[in-house]
Amino acid sequence: MEITTQTKYALVTGATGGLGKAFIVALAERGYALLLTGRSEEKLLALQTELKGRYPQTQTRIYPADLADGESRTRMTDRITQEGLRLSLLVNAAGADIQKGLTEYTQEKIAFQCRVNFEAAVSLCRFAIENKAEKLEIVNISSVSGIYPMPYFAIYSAAKGALTSFSQSLRAEMRGKGVSVTAVLPGAMPTRDDIKEQIKGQGLWGKLAAKSPEAVAVASLKAVRKNKRKVIVGFWNKVMRIATCWLPTSWRLRFIAKRWSKISKDAF
Ligand SMILES: NC(=O)c1ccc[n+]([C@@H]2O[C@H](COP(=O)([O-])OP(=O)(O)OC[C@H]3O[C@@H](n4cnc5c(N)ncnc54)[C@H](OP(=O)(O)O)[C@@H]3O)[C@@H](O)[C@H]2O)c1
Repeated sequence: MEITTQTKYALVTGATGGLGKAFIVALAERGYALLLTGRSEEKLLALQTELKGRYPQTQTRIYPADLADGESRTRMTDRITQEGLRLSLLVNAAGADIQKGLTEYTQEKIAFQCRVNFEAAVSLCRFAIENKAEKLEIVNISSVSGIYPMPYFAIYSAAKGALTSFSQSLRAEMRGKGVSVTAVLPGAMPTRDDIKEQIKGQGLWGKLAAKSPEAVAVASLKAVRKNKRKVIVGFWNKVMRIATCWLPTSWRLRFIAKRWSKISKDAF
C-alpha cells in the first residue's frame, strides 16, 4: 500500500461483522484506504480478497487483534504507528452482546463485555487522536439499548450508555481541534441469524424499527461529517425514545426485566 498524505485512512473495528462490513463497502465507495480489524485473520483475509474483487482501487490492510486484550490491541496500534499511517476516520463498530443475568456471568465474561464495548473504543479514540491526519472523524457505535438500564442485558446496556456519554464529552473536548465525534445509536439490525430471529419475534415493531446495516453505516457517515453529537437511527426508534421517556423508571425496569429474563445469549 502506497502511503501518501492525500490518502484518507479509515480504521474500522468489527470489520468482519455485519455493520462493520457495511461501513467498509460505504468507505470503499468513498475512496478511503481501509485498515480492517477483527479477531480472525482468516475472516479478515477473506474480506480483503472480496474487496480486491469488488473495489480493485481500494487499498486495504488487515490487523488481526483481540480488542478485549490490551496487549493484542497495543500490537495492532504499534504496527499502525510504525507504518506511519495518519487516520482520517475511526469507526468503533466492534461489539459483543451477551444477554443474561449477572449471576450467569463468569468474571472473564464480565471483563470481556466491558472491554470490547467500552474500554477498547475509548482506547482507540485516544490512539486515533494521537495519530490523526489533519482532520479526524470518529464514529462510536453505541445502541438504543444504552438509553435506559436493561435488566438481563445490564452490562451491554451500561457499556453502550457509557460509550454514548463518553463520545459526547470527547466531542466537547475536541471542539476546534479538527476532530468530530458522533455517537450512533442504532436499533435492531438484521446482521446475524440470532438477531434476525429476534427481530422476527418482535412482529410489527421489529419490522418497523429494524434498519439495514447499510442504512446505518450511511447515516453514521453523514452524521459525523456534520459533527452531530448523537444520532438515533430510524424514525420509529426516535418515536420509541420520545414515547417512553415519560414512563416512570420503575415501570420501565419491570417491563424490560419481564421481557428480557426470557432471553439468554452468549457472545464469543
Ligand atoms: N445488530 C444489532 O441489532 C445492533 C443493534 C444496536 C447496536 N449494535 C452494535 O453495532 C455493532 C456491530 O454489530 P453487528 O450486529 O454488526 O455485530 P456482529 O455481526 O456480531 O459483529 C461484531 C464484530 O465485532 C468483532 N468483535 C467482537 N469481539 C471482538 C474482540 N474481542 N476483538 C475484536 N473484535 C471483536 C467481531 O469480529 P470477530 O468475531 O471476527 O473477531 C465482529 O467483526 C456492535 O457494536 C453492536 O453492539 C448492533
